[in-house]
Amino acid sequence: KKIHYFEEVTSTNSIAKEIAVSEEEGTLVIAEVQKGGRGRMGREWVSPHGGIWISVILKPGIPLRHASRLTLVAGLAVANVIRNIGLDARIKWPNDVRINGKKVCGILTEAKAEVDRVDYVVLGIGINVNMDLKDIPESFRAGSTTLKAELGTHIKRVSFLQDFLFELEQQYILFKTQPFSHILNDWLALSDTIGREVKVTTPSRIIEGKAVGVTPDGALVIRKADDTKEEIIAGRCIYAR
Ligand code: BTN
Repeated sequence: KKIHYFEEVTSTNSIAKEIAVSEEEGTLVIAEVQKGGRGRMGREWVSPHGGIWISVILKPGIPLRHASRLTLVAGLAVANVIRNIGLDARIKWPNDVRINGKKVCGILTEAKAEVDRVDYVVLGIGINVNMDLKDIPESFRAGSTTLKAELGTHIKRVSFLQDFLFELEQQYILFKTQPFSHILNDWLALSDTIGREVKVTTPSRIIEGKAVGVTPDGALVIRKADDTKEEIIAGRCIYAR
């Protein structure tokens, strides 16, 4: 598989989207530093030296409404490799991988579709590995951590990345060959969102209630105070307590 390596880019996701049509599935874009790293919902993603900032081009040939499933696939793969180095990684819906309640990884999935079939999906994954927390501006630092801070030692980024790509490929093969419920069950076992009181913000409103499940498309199911249920496909989730 092809790897496009850069010292510095604006955003690996932007580059991956530019080249996706002509590249094969599995092509990787990787950078040491991103100057315009992008997070979900238009937020900035701080990406100094010492992290892993990558985008993977996938061509799964699935309906667009299933593209968000790949966010769960990637989150599960990241959580698994972090657990393999001995840390208790948990997943917060939809895409944050956290250790001791602090975010160590974010995933930004961007898809392009023709009618209802995806042409490609770009899975953008950012993992805070070895950087010093002081390299992250204070306004972003709260609630974040790094693998180095949690483990107390420096991590070999190349071997960690190799392990991650291997795990991602395994999960992707399962995604393509097995009912999605299998991956969803593994995801649920590592998620700490279900059962919590949550507040989810979408561009148009705020929904509060208890997170009671995740649908097969990756939407969060919330039971509200009036006992009605609502499914939210995308939003920012805060644990209320
Ligand atoms: C989030 O939690 O808001 C998602 C963060 C995604 C960050 C990664 S880093 C590699 C890729 N390139 C980007 O610009 N963003 C993603």
